[in-house]
Amino acid sequence: MLFMGIETSCDDTSVSIYDNKKGILCNNIYTQKIHSKYGGVVPELAARNHLKKIIPLIKKSLLKINKNLHDIDAIAYTAGPGQINSLIIGATVSHTLAFALNIPIIPVNHMEGHLFSIMLQKKKPYFPFIGLLISGGHTQLIYVHKFGKYKILGKHIDDAVGETLDKVSKLLGLDYPGGKNLFKLSQYGIPKKFIFPRPMISKKNDLNFSFSGLKTFVQNFIKKQDLNNFQVKANIACAFEDAIIDTLYIKSLWALKKYHINQLVIAGGVSANKKLRKIFYRNFQKNNIKLFYSNKKLCTDNAGMIAYIGSKKVFFRKKYILNNIIINSRLSLEDDFLS
Ligand SMILES: Nc1ncnc2c1ncn2[C@@H]1O[C@H](COP(=O)(O)OP(=O)(O)OP(=O)(O)O)[C@@H](O)[C@H]1O
Ligand SMILES: [Mg+2]
Repeated sequence: MLFMGIETSCDDTSVSIYDNKKGILCNNIYTQKIHSKYGGVVPELAARNHLKKIIPLIKKSLLKINKNLHDIDAIAYTAGPGQINSLIIGATVSHTLAFALNIPIIPVNHMEGHLFSIMLQKKKPYFPFIGLLISGGHTQLIYVHKFGKYKILGKHIDDAVGETLDKVSKLLGLDYPGGKNLFKLSQYGIPKKFIFPRPMISKKNDLNFSFSGLKTFVQNFIKKQDLNNFQVKANIACAFEDAIIDTLYIKSLWALKKYHINQLVIAGGVSANKKLRKIFYRNFQKNNIKLFYSNKKLCTDNAGMIAYIGSKKVFFRKKYILNNIIINSRLSLEDDFLS
């Protein structure tokens, strides 16, 4: 069966075609550059760009694998969480195509997509495992019992980790999205030259995250520093990144120990961070814990992960003909939004 995935939750327009026997046949992603000059995603501009790009991307994807729309057996689209104006574009295009082609339409939770992008890799975890979702809008530790059954063990109570990275990068004068640029800069930093606090680690086994205090700490710290000095800037980036990675590591280890699990899947855009992967891998080896992460393209927003979830879901439900367009900007992993 061929599944078309459509992803428009934020600032990436993506179309993928997934074959449930052969895997991903194509995964086209268009990252909207326009937002970098505003230092963050402008929802109205994002939606307008999705509208411009979505049909050309569908055509490009079909052309790439030498198929046409009538070869597609089902369409899976991101129904949430995300920005409502952007979600509407992908949902409307998907529902219209599915209606015209008379094929099943499958709404997908974007975070479920991130969490399971690991299943598109060679090295896969078995159930149950713990997932650490670290993206632009989420920081969550999740107990994954099996496909479709999740328990959120801890989550961000203010800024998400990616959001914090992007805000601090902006303070350092780096371009949006900042996570990648901050990482590049931090490589020049002198380790431990500055030491920033690790938030919410005093209460053992509290698996929630709070990064906004750390952001304010860095904001005040920067005021007393000379940002024209490249080395100082790199030292700040390094100290900040270390504080984020340490906090995520400590809480992940607590979750793994508390629930007697020895597999951690890291997912979402921030999991592309090489330093984070290296530190987690090294420390987990000592604890006999296996670490799983996806390749870079599958870490950030892409429709491949959406098409994959669609392929899993279609076998769980007999009929996927929906009367309403389903979108929910605040969809949680614990919501079964189709029941
Ligand atoms: N190499 C990297 N190191 C650190 N952070 C990174 C890296 N690459 C991307 N990021 C961060 O990942 C985030 C984007 O991830 P992703 O696309 O998964 O988030 P999102 O889709 O905007 O949010 P969500 O998935 O929560 O709705 C941004 O905050 C970006 O700065
Ligand atoms: Mg995302």
